Amino acid sequence: MRAALPAVPSGPRLPAAAVAGTMVLVEPPFPHYLQAARMAAEGPWLGQLATTDPGGAPEVRTVVVRGLWSGAQPYLASDARSDKVRALRASPVAELCLWSSARQEQLRLRGRVVVHPADDALSRQLWRAFSAATRATFAGPPPGTPLHEDRAPREDAPEDGASAAALAEVAGAALPPPQLVVLRLEPARVDRLVLGPPLRRHRWWREAAGWRGAPVAP
Ligand SMILES: Cc1cc2nc3c(=O)[nH]c(=O)nc-3n(C[C@H](O)[C@H](O)[C@H](O)COP(=O)(O)O)c2cc1C
Repeated sequence: MRAALPAVPSGPRLPAAAVAGTMVLVEPPFPHYLQAARMAAEGPWLGQLATTDPGGAPEVRTVVVRGLWSGAQPYLASDARSDKVRALRASPVAELCLWSSARQEQLRLRGRVVVHPADDALSRQLWRAFSAATRATFAGPPPGTPLHEDRAPREDAPEDGASAAALAEVAGAALPPPQLVVLRLEPARVDRLVLGPPLRRHRWWREAAGWRGAPVAP
């Protein structure tokens, strides 16, 4: 039997059509939990993004989730020259795993990652908000480039492989450099595990007619 959908808290909602197919309504739609996890994050909202390399091997790394596009699509900033962006251009399906200690809750979102064009509205907005330290991460050589010993950072003399001129230029730039790209995950399957008590798990998946959801065994 259908019950009314609980309201999604502040922030953009999924289009009505996207939630209309939800089957089990004891839980709000997943954007509710995404937004709650975002609000509960202390400091940067961190997650682990898993992709597959060209040989099919898994690769996972920590990322900062910068926001939620349309309330339900997490997006992050990355370097267009990095392995993960190369991997996503070849094979765009990825999974983002978010752990909220405050909520004792894990959210796993699987779907296609859209690599936004450089210098789009979202990357400009992020660039304006970035600290000098974050901007500086885009001034160095491509991530993963081997550094000669004399250029490698040392604990007692931090240096990240970028020249002082490149650092100054990027720190003061009004527009984002072409190497900054926004990665936006379009979830097709969401899995929520709550440690509770009670321990519980819920899954949502996208079908042609819209989103459906159901509790599953933890
Ligand atoms: C706390 C933390 C936050 C990070 N945030 C990001 C991020 O938002 N975007 C990003 O591209 N890399 C981020 N990194 C670096 C990645 O984990 C990774 O080392 C780097 O992007 C290279 O990954 P790749 O070689 O798989 O492309 C972060 C690392 C840490 C430890």
